[in-house]
Amino acid sequence: MSEVIIALDFPGRTEVMEFLDHFEESLYVKIGMELYYQTGPEMVREIKERGHRIFLDLKLHDIPNTVESAMRGLRKLGVDMANVHAAGGIEMMEAARRGLGEGPILLAVTQLTSTSEAQMHSDQLIEVSLEQSVLHYAACAQKAGLDGVVCSPLEAQQIANECGEEFLRVTPGIRPATSDVGDQKRVMTPSRARQNGSSYIVVGRPITKADNPYEAYIAIKNEWEHA
Ligand code: C5P
Repeated sequence: MSEVIIALDFPGRTEVMEFLDHFEESLYVKIGMELYYQTGPEMVREIKERGHRIFLDLKLHDIPNTVESAMRGLRKLGVDMANVHAAGGIEMMEAARRGLGEGPILLAVTQLTSTSEAQMHSDQLIEVSLEQSVLHYAACAQKAGLDGVVCSPLEAQQIANECGEEFLRVTPGIRPATSDVGDQKRVMTPSRARQNGSSYIVVGRPITKADNPYEAYIAIKNEWEHA
């Protein structure tokens, strides 16, 4: 039950459908803000109808009542995985869990990987180290009944040590040894990520921008599964 999730970072429906036409098997895909705010729930329904599973990466962060209602909507849409910002607090995360129900996987974003320790100190006035903040947020998410966190593969092992193997670590920032790093700063190969405690990997451009997306996906999936 550990899998490769493809990040569908496309501007619209046409590009998504063109991409999905490369595949006959059922996939696990991630829909983020870019695509969702252009295409809305209809895109989620359409991809579900094609038999794919969906991680809806909208990173909710609002008062508990609003997050609970929003999650109830996502549950009706049939998403398989959703997420919130741990910074919203334990009460908000508990509300998110109630709204989404027990079936789908619910994750927390801890500190964004684009946040440096210096920025965390100056912007958020959090005085501990970045690592301590990430581990603290992971512990809060676990306490609130969430299933895991989105994190860097570099943090995955430590989160597993602190929260247990059952608590999921879903990790972007994955690059096969042969591929372009792009704007990702701290990357790991699929096999290293697995050895380092990732439960699921999220891969975008190495698959979506490949000349042959199907072959790129299969190569990454093989590397992941046989690590
Ligand atoms: O194209 P690439 O493989 O870099 O895509 C990674 C995906 O994971 C993107 O959708 C990106 O927004 C997302 N993501 C990330 N780092 C995080 C959280 C999400 O790269 N910390």
